[in-house]
Amino acid sequence: MVWLADRLFSVRTTRDASFNYLPGQFARIGLKSKPDLAEPDVWRAYSMVTHPLETELEFYCVVVPDGQFSPLLEQQPVGAPIWVERQSFGFLTLDRFTPADSLWLVATGTGISAFLPMLESSDIWQQFKTVVLVHGVRTPDELAYRDSIESLVEQRQDASGGKLKYLPICSQAALNGPNRITSLYENDTLESLANEPLNPEQSRIMLCGNPAMVTEMRNLLSLDGFAAGRRGVLGTLAVENYW
Ligand SMILES: Cc1cc2nc3c(=O)[nH]c(=O)nc-3n(C[C@H](O)[C@H](O)[C@H](O)COP(=O)(O)OP(=O)(O)OC[C@H]3O[C@@H](n4cnc5c(N)ncnc54)[C@H](O)[C@@H]3O)c2cc1C
Ligand SMILES: NC(=O)c1ccc[n+]([C@@H]2O[C@H](COP(=O)([O-])OP(=O)(O)OC[C@H]3O[C@@H](n4cnc5c(N)ncnc54)[C@H](OP(=O)(O)O)[C@@H]3O)[C@@H](O)[C@H]2O)c1
Repeated sequence: MVWLADRLFSVRTTRDASFNYLPGQFARIGLKSKPDLAEPDVWRAYSMVTHPLETELEFYCVVVPDGQFSPLLEQQPVGAPIWVERQSFGFLTLDRFTPADSLWLVATGTGISAFLPMLESSDIWQQFKTVVLVHGVRTPDELAYRDSIESLVEQRQDASGGKLKYLPICSQAALNGPNRITSLYENDTLESLANEPLNPEQSRIMLCGNPAMVTEMRNLLSLDGFAAGRRGVLGTLAVENYW
């Protein structure tokens, strides 16, 4: 699936029966940089978009123009082999948190990948009354998976258990100046857009994607009392950097 030509796409692979993971985890996927190589020689981390109950794997990918891996992945024809390491990795999972009123899932760019399988898991709707999905991108055409997220928002209106709120944020298409997740948090706009409080007493929060966003948001959230779990004590904040 191509979301934005030469820039954003998704790939599907078969899934080995022995490959298990939790929503939010990632795999290492490999490619041969030259067809005559016996083994894949370039490997990168990619979050699974699909829920673990699905029989295939899907990955959502950006093309980094000078990158070693992502342009190669984009050029693979349908049916070409892609290697998936048997082990899954990562701690951005729902078991990081005790139940709370709301769960905030905050992503930039392809960071949304990690959150998509969580929305398909029944646990999340038992654990939280509201889930707020915040997706920060440059322009509206980068809002991949928007239709499926919006239809899930509608489905959750009628379902028992938690509701889903979706906040797409476009940094370079804002009418009133810069529109980054960090500034919207600082001036309390995120809470008002979601009509949902965001504090460590009532909320849990996950951050995923651009490391600068993760660091800045983490610093701001720490000032407001959010903290990552430590030494077996569950926290109110969990993060994953994509580079
Ligand atoms: C835990 C984890 C999960 C990841 N999941 C995904 C995923 O689901 N989808 C995905 O596309 N990438 C994901 N990545 C990034 C991915 O592993 C590669 O870095 C990316 O595909 C680019 O590879 P490359 O060799 O072309 O460039 P690299 O040499 O790996 O990266 C070059 C530069 O490109 C930029 N960059 C790298 N990745 C991204 C990105 N995802 N978005 C924006 N800029 C980026 C950074 O500035 C980086 O320094 C993940 C990384 C980690 C650590
Ligand atoms: N320069 C360009 O126009 C351009 C266009 C396409 C792709 N690229 C390259 O393509 C790659 C992927 O780009 P991408 O757009 O998918 O990912 P990205 O660079 O991580 O940007 C995704 C979103 O995160 C925001 N962001 C970045 N740093 C932040 C911070 N510290 N706090 C809060 N929000 C922050 C960006 O806002 P801002 O828009 O405010 O940065 C953007 O809305 C990168 O390597 C990039 O250099 C560049």
